[in-house]
Amino acid sequence: MDIKNVLFAIAGLSLAGLFGYHAYHGANPEWHDYQRTYYGMLADKMNDPKLAGAPLKIEQVWLPTVNNRADRCVTCHKGIGNPLFKDAPQPYTTHPQMFDDEGKPAGYILSHPFDKFGCTVCHEGEPQALTVEATHGNVHHLDREMLVGKFAESSCSKCHRTLYHRKADLPMAAQLMAGKDLFKKKGCGACHTAKQMKTKGTAGPELSGFGSKTELSFYLVHDFHHVEGEHTKLQWEWEHFKDPQKITPGNPNANPPQPPTIMPNFGLSDEETDQLTTLIMSFKEDVKEAVPMHFLSNYPPIETETEVAAVAQE
Ligand code: HEC
Ligand code: HEC
Ligand code: HEC
Ligand code: HEC
Repeated sequence: MDIKNVLFAIAGLSLAGLFGYHAYHGANPEWHDYQRTYYGMLADKMNDPKLAGAPLKIEQVWLPTVNNRADRCVTCHKGIGNPLFKDAPQPYTTHPQMFDDEGKPAGYILSHPFDKFGCTVCHEGEPQALTVEATHGNVHHLDREMLVGKFAESSCSKCHRTLYHRKADLPMAAQLMAGKDLFKKKGCGACHTAKQMKTKGTAGPELSGFGSKTELSFYLVHDFHHVEGEHTKLQWEWEHFKDPQKITPGNPNANPPQPPTIMPNFGLSDEETDQLTTLIMSFKEDVKEAVPMHFLSNYPPIETETEVAAVAQE
């Protein structure tokens, strides 16, 4: 048989296989199960069995002004804004900082309505994906890995640009604020330039735009050999803070030999390491983030009335 025919047959067969695979998964996508379960729970909560059969559909928040994103997270996180789901398990539960104990609206997240902000502006991740693996999984080619828990505070700076001011406090982002204090206390600025912190050190790399680097660009220039956890930017940084010499040991066999990093091991606790990691991930390059003007906020105000009054009296 002609080699061309063989290749053609193989290509045809794999196409058929691919088609079958997609036909199956197209008819039974993962998100169907999550929506069905949600509507089942809703029917129970509302005492209305009809709700259990609600039609399933992809839900998305289109954000033409924020990098033209279309966030589809709510397709699975259906209960995210429904107080009835306050005590439901993930992915059905309500968002933290949105409702008080009685289920009444309360919390700063309400100033960021999901229909205008979507989710990925704070959480990053893959806006369009509709499987748990693709949204939450550790996928190297991702532009940005999803931020879970308080690491999402590293996104507040995209819009709240006053927060680095020495007098500014954003208590809702306590992990980030603690990182800001720690950066000063440990003297990181002696070696690192960070425009946000107004430091000009040159012994270490500049950190100003660090938080806007993609996973891929990070991966290409960082050595992950000594990283024990998942191979992500956040994990590399976390482990590097814990033990800089372990992650960047240098290479005695190179010519000329490379000594281990001069960055000191500060003996940081896990909590402090979380705080500093959140801080450096928050150092954004405004041009890359391209957040439109109307999303920017002057909160926290830098000069509160009491501060102005205090200065007037000095
Ligand atoms: C295919 C359904 C699906 C989609 C789409 C989806 N999620 Fe989830 N999400 C889940 C499930 C299931 C869980 C709970 C289990 C887990 O953590 O993997 C979860 C958990 C989470 C958690 C908590 C994780 C933790 O470890 O505590 C966050 C935060 C989250 N999702 C955010 C998002 C964001 C942001 C998006 C959009 C980029 C998104 N999700 C899209 C199904 C989904
Ligand atoms: C204004 C920024 C912001 C937006 C917008 C936002 N989140 Fe969050 N989200 C956070 C922060 C910060 C936390 C951590 C809160 C905490 O632990 O106190 C969080 C926590 C969560 C959690 C709880 C599990 C975890 O990781 O702690 C889930 C689930 C979640 N977000 C999903 C979503 C989804 C889905 C959307 C869009 C519908 C969304 N978020 C929009 C900032 C945001
Ligand atoms: C995409 C832009 C954007 C991001 C990201 C963002 N915010 Fe906001 N935030 C706003 C805007 C716009 C307002 C409302 C206008 C104002 O108060 O200036 C606001 C208001 C607030 C307020 C004041 C009103 C209130 O409800 O108390 C707080 C506090 C706040 N945000 C905290 C946060 C925190 C914490 C984060 C990170 C987890 C965050 N924001 C992320 C844009 C953003
Ligand atoms: C004595 C100088 C020195 C001090 C002090 C210092 N660093 Fe470093 N830092 C370095 C050098 C040199 C590197 C590059 C080699 C390496 O990977 O360790 C580095 C690397 C880093 C990186 C990785 C940058 C990248 O491109 O991935 C971060 C983030 C960082 N430092 C943050 C900090 C913080 C935060 C502090 C304060 C707690 C601090 N450093 C204190 C010298 C220093």
